[in-house]
Amino acid sequence: MLALRPWTSDDVPALVRACSDPLTARYTSVPVPYTPQDARQFVEAGRSRTTLPLAVVDAEDPARMLGACGLHAVDRARGRAEIGYWTAPWARRRAVATRALRLLSGWALAPAPDGLGLARLELYVEPDNELSQRVAGAAGFVRGDLVRGGIVLRGRRHDVLRYSRSATRG
Ligand SMILES: CC(C)(COP(=O)(O)OP(=O)(O)OC[C@H]1O[C@@H](n2cnc3c(N)ncnc32)[C@H](O)[C@@H]1OP(=O)(O)O)[C@@H](O)C(=O)NCCC(=O)NCCS
Repeated sequence: MLALRPWTSDDVPALVRACSDPLTARYTSVPVPYTPQDARQFVEAGRSRTTLPLAVVDAEDPARMLGACGLHAVDRARGRAEIGYWTAPWARRRAVATRALRLLSGWALAPAPDGLGLARLELYVEPDNELSQRVAGAAGFVRGDLVRGGIVLRGRRHDVLRYSRSATRG
């Protein structure tokens, strides 16, 4: 079973190894090259009113980091947030991203007090990132528009597909 927990300074070496991976560098906004200083800054920044960065871990071995899943651009007044994820190279193709995305989005869209009570989550995926699109679909996200130049990665604009998942309110 997977669990989500806050990042700690013990994660710095694993963060450096995971974020130095070319696929993570290509599709996310991590600094390139990714240094221990980058990892320490990321851990120290922690959560804020608009971001909730979480480590994905094995529930039975929470020290072993498997990936990242987090909320960004959280807007409680509008009931919206963006969600992002990567899986460490040593944990890929074992449904880590799919299960983590289900877990975090399920909690974010569940009514308070058990969940965060948001109404809608969005995530942005580049059209050639087929694995990530499969992950989004498997976690209940629905494909929407192509947003031209929708994200900026290291100074370059990229087209992205918008995926969204809404709360089901009975
Ligand atoms: C995209 C990414 C997050 C996928 O992570 P992952 O944990 O490997 O993804 P999952 O294992 O949940 O799912 C990917 C595929 O593996 C399959 N899979 C799951 N368990 C599996 C297993 N035991 N054996 C083989 N394949 C398996 C999944 O079913 C899925 O493929 P399918 O939909 O064709 O079946 C990862 O490749 C990554 O970190 N990429 C770089 C960063 C990135 O792109 N982030 C997203 C930005 S939008």
